Amino acid sequence: MGIFICPVCGENLEISGKSYVCGNHHCFDIARSGYVNLLLSKQTGGGVHGDNKLMVKARRDFLEKGYYEPLCEAVAETVKKYTQGSSVILDAGCGEGYYTAAVKAKIDQSNIAAEIYGIDISKTAVEFAAKRKTDIIFAAASVFHIPATAKSCDILLTMFAPYCGEEYSRVLQDDGIMVMAIPSEDHLWELKKAIYNQPYKNKVKDYQLEGFDFLDSQRVRYIMNIDNQQDIQSLFSMTPYYYKSGREEQERLSKLENISVEADFEILTYRRKGQKI
Ligand SMILES: C[S@@+](CC[C@H](N)C(=O)[O-])C[C@H]1O[C@@H](n2cnc3c(N)ncnc32)[C@H](O)[C@@H]1O
Ligand SMILES: [Zn+2]
Repeated sequence: MGIFICPVCGENLEISGKSYVCGNHHCFDIARSGYVNLLLSKQTGGGVHGDNKLMVKARRDFLEKGYYEPLCEAVAETVKKYTQGSSVILDAGCGEGYYTAAVKAKIDQSNIAAEIYGIDISKTAVEFAAKRKTDIIFAAASVFHIPATAKSCDILLTMFAPYCGEEYSRVLQDDGIMVMAIPSEDHLWELKKAIYNQPYKNKVKDYQLEGFDFLDSQRVRYIMNIDNQQDIQSLFSMTPYYYKSGREEQERLSKLENISVEADFEILTYRRKGQKI
């Protein structure tokens, strides 16, 4: 049995043909691409949520060119380090599954048996993820209402996605592991300098998180040489600055044909505190 529960009544979901069905006959069809939509409209307020097609495509194209490969490798290694036999791994806010697929490949290489899941509120993102055909189970779902049984996961991965400590704590085993990637101080500094009159460095928040013991941090930093406008635009559209920049900044960005820019990340690892829930 998998980890998914019915978003309507909370009963376990079982696969029946091309659908997930609960004991109360709530039924969720598996899309042709392979993901299941477990989002209820009241969780999203209706309409499109999460990243749209343009953003998903831009991120996929950028990531597939390997610019974040060193981060991807380090994250996959970290997850592997904490994965023991028959683990359940959940990528919460998985986007189009770039890191989820890399974790799966790393785990497979190591001959560890693991069930890997990815959820994202963007149906477009999980559709792209499912099309990778990797044996990972993808669902459209919110990290604020994770349709998974309490304590069903051994490892939770959260990369540049919204954080919901209560839900992450609920779905993790008593001493489950959370692996989180965040941008560090100098991430994209040269790009910010090229675009903004008054660029600011990223502020890295306190590592402590309620409900979790902090275990470890690993800094991953290197220079990316980007030699075309399209990749620069894709990179920028993956950042939160994208929405905050005005015409002047957009113009400067559109004139950049190449840039050497720092990638600077931290991979933080936590253990869920074993409190009773
Ligand atoms: C910056 S992207 C990161 C995606 C992926 N983890 C990666 O690093 O490539 C943030 C993702 O969070 C998703 N997202 C936003 N709000 C969410 C929510 N409430 N629940 C689940 N996913 C959400 C977006 O759709 C988007 O795919
Ligand atoms: Zn149900």
